[in-house]
Amino acid sequence: MIMREEKTEETPNGSYRVATSGDIEVSTYLEIAKEITGEQQAVRREAVSGAERESIIVLDFGSQYSMLIARRIRECHVYCELLPHDTPWEKIAPLNPKGFILSGGPASVYAPGAPLPPAYVYESHLPVMGICYGMQALTTQLGGRVAPGDKHEYGHVILHLSDLDSPLLVDLPPSTPVWMSHGDKIEEMPPGFTPLAHTENSPYAIMGNRKGFYGLQFHPEVAHTPEGKTILKNFVYRVCGCKGNWTVGNFVSESIARIKEQVGDGKVINALSGGVDSAVVATLIHRAIGDQLTCIFVNNGLLRREEVERTFNTFRLNMGMNIVYIDAVDRFLERLKGVTDPEMKRKIIGGEFIEVFEEEARKIGRVDFLAQGTLYPDVIESISSVSNASAKIKTHHNVGGLPATMTLTLLEPLRYLFKDEVRQVGLELGLPEEMVWRQPFPGPGLAIRVIGEVNKEKLEMLRSADWIVMNEIKKAKLYRQLWQSFAILTDIKSVGVMGDYRTYGYLAAIRAVTSEDAMTADWARLPYDVLARISTRIVNEVPGINRVVYDITSKPPGTIEWE
Ligand code: XMP
Repeated sequence: MIMREEKTEETPNGSYRVATSGDIEVSTYLEIAKEITGEQQAVRREAVSGAERESIIVLDFGSQYSMLIARRIRECHVYCELLPHDTPWEKIAPLNPKGFILSGGPASVYAPGAPLPPAYVYESHLPVMGICYGMQALTTQLGGRVAPGDKHEYGHVILHLSDLDSPLLVDLPPSTPVWMSHGDKIEEMPPGFTPLAHTENSPYAIMGNRKGFYGLQFHPEVAHTPEGKTILKNFVYRVCGCKGNWTVGNFVSESIARIKEQVGDGKVINALSGGVDSAVVATLIHRAIGDQLTCIFVNNGLLRREEVERTFNTFRLNMGMNIVYIDAVDRFLERLKGVTDPEMKRKIIGGEFIEVFEEEARKIGRVDFLAQGTLYPDVIESISSVSNASAKIKTHHNVGGLPATMTLTLLEPLRYLFKDEVRQVGLELGLPEEMVWRQPFPGPGLAIRVIGEVNKEKLEMLRSADWIVMNEIKKAKLYRQLWQSFAILTDIKSVGVMGDYRTYGYLAAIRAVTSEDAMTADWARLPYDVLARISTRIVNEVPGINRVVYDITSKPPGTIEWE
């Protein structure tokens, strides 16, 4: 039972009750839960028909799926940002929000200190959708009751619609599977709400009122809820009135205009790696300011076969960009001599990269901006107020993660994009498909795929094996379905026989995984005949390797890279 001491507060939008229970402040927005007034409708209409820009704001309560909500909304061509649940209104207003989504989260609304949405969520008179914990928070604030569930619902359950006329449920079948993951449940809906759908254990699996406030007990954002995207689409178009102007074409033209304005006649440098993010950043900026951009491309000797030529040809020869190519192969290998510890390798490569980059940047003369391929997931991670301080598994070095000591203004045109959006932008800009769909490649390169000490011979062996893996995977038309597929050169040697001869050679491992975001990954069930071809070719074509194994470890408990 929540104990409440109540007081009434007056605001320009009416009065609402603020109740305190221990150290939690629970606001019950009673006025707001009532029918929408004419004045409020006017506010809503003005907000909807306002500026060109429109957005949906997801307030994050710490669910592992929060970022997915934002991705799904963007897939509906509506701009969406994921922000900490306590973000002040001043940061949100310029985004011209058309509606709010309250994410799920690990807390219980009745626990002391439980995070709750700020008052503006209700006072702005915009539609609100609470998902799982978000629904419970909304219920509590609007005067309903949440309690610990006697049965936890987890996994697939069947949702039965009870209101087929709700705008949220247009185009949904009467019954459909949904993904549940909750312990607490709604015991009593807030005043003015009606149940729109139920499951076996949740009488209020979806609830809503006539003001455009909805609560969903399940997760519409996950792939396990097949009709989830229809619900989200209905929310943003039918409930929030979005127009759907978030398209790749719009992004490219707006972004070029913004870069031109920001840079003026300044000079920009960028580290090119051959990866899709740095390629898209370079192309976008080049479109905007041409020769004011100089790309520095460092060959650290740890790249894949043909990577150097391909990158140079694409950007220098085909696109006519200013590229400074630095052959730093010997320098990196010298520094890596005798080093076997994975973290040490990463530190050395990251440090050396910064040194080389700074040396070259100095030679260019006056530079004002440093372009980086920062993506939205990195931004979210750095601003999230509810992210758990997870234990550091590996130090990731990205060629984009550049010098803290350089006094340059950062230019990060992909800062608000997800990876799949970056790929679409790359295609829109005319980058070769092969480059746009390239699988991720780690900043420390092949050094963390040669187990133990790295040297030229081992790198060459690995490059040959890796080339075979890539070609066979592409031939089998599996390349795009896999998050990553590559070879590892272990430091184990074993005995084999070739013809009439005994061999004593290295063991190569093959790693192929499927993943959405590299946070988790599953080992790919590659067809046996593809594995067989890869194995036969490596042993026959790469001198020094006489045995091949396939890594069948998922992440967790394994990581994708071996070091
Ligand atoms: P792990 O091995 O941690 O890798 O499961 C997750 C994803 O990150 C890539 N990776 C890196 N990327 N710099 C990068 O830019 C790095 O130091 C680095 N280490 C791992 C890895 O390839 C996988 O996609």
